[in-house]
Amino acid sequence: MTARVLVTGAARGIGAATALAFAREGARVLVVDLNRPHATAEAVGAAGAADVRAYACDVSDADAVLSLRDAVKETWGGLDVLVHCAGIIHEAPLLETPIADFDRVIAINLRGSFLIGQAAIGLMVPDAANPPRAILIASDMAYYGRETFSPYVASKHGVLGLVRSWAKEFAPGILVNAICPGPIDTEMLGAANMSAEWRQRELAIPLARFGQPDEIAAVARFLAGEGGRYFTGQGIGPNGGSVMP
Ligand SMILES: NC(=O)c1ccc[n+]([C@@H]2O[C@H](COP(=O)([O-])OP(=O)(O)OC[C@H]3O[C@@H](n4cnc5c(N)ncnc54)[C@H](O)[C@@H]3O)[C@@H](O)[C@H]2O)c1
Repeated sequence: MTARVLVTGAARGIGAATALAFAREGARVLVVDLNRPHATAEAVGAAGAADVRAYACDVSDADAVLSLRDAVKETWGGLDVLVHCAGIIHEAPLLETPIADFDRVIAINLRGSFLIGQAAIGLMVPDAANPPRAILIASDMAYYGRETFSPYVASKHGVLGLVRSWAKEFAPGILVNAICPGPIDTEMLGAANMSAEWRQRELAIPLARFGQPDEIAAVARFLAGEGGRYFTGQGIGPNGGSVMP
């Protein structure tokens, strides 16, 4: 059966690259984003998806995610692969961080991961012989602290906690893993507007370059494919060596 793949945060960046990568292998792809999912969905269709749908959804909104779940059930009857990429970043010193900013980062990055994971896993049929895959994008910052990024770092530590717990809860019928990228060249990273000092700091990693969204998409495809069958509860790190957990 052609894989049914839901990708969140798919309008741009890592999510768009992932949706396109699955389309190229002929999967059915659901492009979900808060903003402009339809433009990416067109490209996904042109890239060879067996079926493509676009759905606008705020992943932090419980009712919206339930409606998304119902729409997937009605359209495809279930789900084989989730790649949850939707997220935001936030940078500010602790003493200048309003609590509303903390709440927003946690709502989108952590609550959103919980809601989307709950909805997607609920649509999967556990099968130890051919397990569905839930893949959540965390960050290399799930493994270390970083000054002036504490809400983001905490949210990504939390995503890894969800993944490890769900991996145990659903083994062996559903495999659950995180991808923990290093600095990837997307609008979130903002390389074009980076100060020279910041760039130097970001590139002070063994591979000394930014990763490309395609390189994360390739890891998602690996985890969703034959090679990923013995992985669960892991944080896979395409990170240029930024962290070696
Ligand atoms: N770019 C990096 O350096 C990097 C490194 C590590 C981890 N990550 C993680 O990878 C994921 C993708 O990041 P990216 O670099 O592609 O970012 P991006 O900003 O380019 O894309 C993020 C997408 O998520 C969508 N989104 C934001 N809030 C949403 C919401 N509430 N509901 C639905 N969609 C929402 C945005 O509209 C956007 O299309 C994020 O979880 C991010 O934290 C990125």
